[in-house]
This record gives sequence, structure tokens and C-alpha cells, in this order.
Amino acid sequence: MSTEGKVDCGRRRLIVATAAVGGVGAVTAVVPFVSSMLPSERAKAAGAPVEVDVSNLAPGQMITVEWRGKPVWIINRSQEMLDTLVKLEEAVADPKSDGKQQPEYCKNPTRSIKPNLLVAVGICTHLGCSPTSKFKKGVEEGMPDDWQGGFLCPCHGSTFDFAGRVFRNKPAPSNLEVPPHTYLSDTRILIGEDTKGA
Ligand code: FES
Repeated sequence: MSTEGKVDCGRRRLIVATAAVGGVGAVTAVVPFVSSMLPSERAKAAGAPVEVDVSNLAPGQMITVEWRGKPVWIINRSQEMLDTLVKLEEAVADPKSDGKQQPEYCKNPTRSIKPNLLVAVGICTHLGCSPTSKFKKGVEEGMPDDWQGGFLCPCHGSTFDFAGRVFRNKPAPSNLEVPPHTYLSDTRILIGEDTKGA
């Protein structure tokens, strides 16, 4: 069960995400698409930044918010999820995102400002489908036997790890985009604007 709240604050909208924890050990995806919290049409047209409170996002969970009409994922990666990133460096096509699908300040092994929190645009870089979360490790129909968890694009089978890096030999040509963002506080993220420059 999950709930979200919202607070209007002028040109940007604060989204408060709260998600019930199903057990820290259990990797769960909480993916409420916040369609009822769209900024006003005028703000949306202007590409207003979106402010998100992630104080209640438990390890292993994710939420999806909308920014400029795009789904943006915020994932609080557990240590177990982070550990998979190192193991998968050889398996992904562009481990360091040399293709520049991220701001400079996310050019690091986790592709994020805070190691645990990934902010990524949830649109496949092949033809724009929306990948689905496949957080459970291990054998599952349609997934590789050594699957470590991540995302699967249902359209043509591209797979992405917990940093949004595409696996080798998949149709998607590049990693998922990391949008410009910044932290207003320890638990508040502003998506669509940053103080460091993308
Ligand atoms: S749109 Fe995702 S693999 Fe083609």
C-alpha cells in the first residue's frame, strides 16, 4: 500500500511519497504513477521542476513522478542492489555512461548524487517504451538465468540494471537518461533544475 500527498508551492509542485515497507530484505517495487498530481497545464508546458520528498521511500522501493510529461523514477537502492552494479560492469554496454546520458555530477559508478538514490527517466532509449521493474533476482520466465534485478523493456527486450545501464547486445543504444536534479535537503529532490549545471 502506498500513498502520496502534495503541496502547491508556486511554480513547482511538491510530491510527498510514502510507501509501506514490505520488509527491508524483500526487494519491492512501489510504482505509483503520480498522474493525479500533475502541475497545472501552464506550469507543465513551461517544464516546471518537480519537487519530491523521499523521506519515506524505504530501501528497495521506487516511485514514479512526472516531469515534462515523462515518467521519472526515483529508486532507493538497497545495499544488495548497489552490490550488483559492480558485478555487472562487464555485462553492460556503457558502464561509465560515456554517451553522456547523465549530468556530470552523476558521472560515477552509481550514476547518482547520493549513492543509494537513482533518479532516471523511465523511457527506453530504443523506441521510447516504458520499461517495467524486474527487481527480483534469479530465474524468471523471459529473463536471463543470472538476472540480478533491474528493468525489462517489454517492446523489444532491452534490459537495464539498477543504475539504468543497458545490457550489451540489446536494441536500446544507450543507458537511461538521468535528468538534471539537485537536493534541496537530505530528503527533498528537485527534478528538472540543478545548481551545478548539467
Ligand atoms: S523500445 Fe525498448 S527495446 Fe525497443
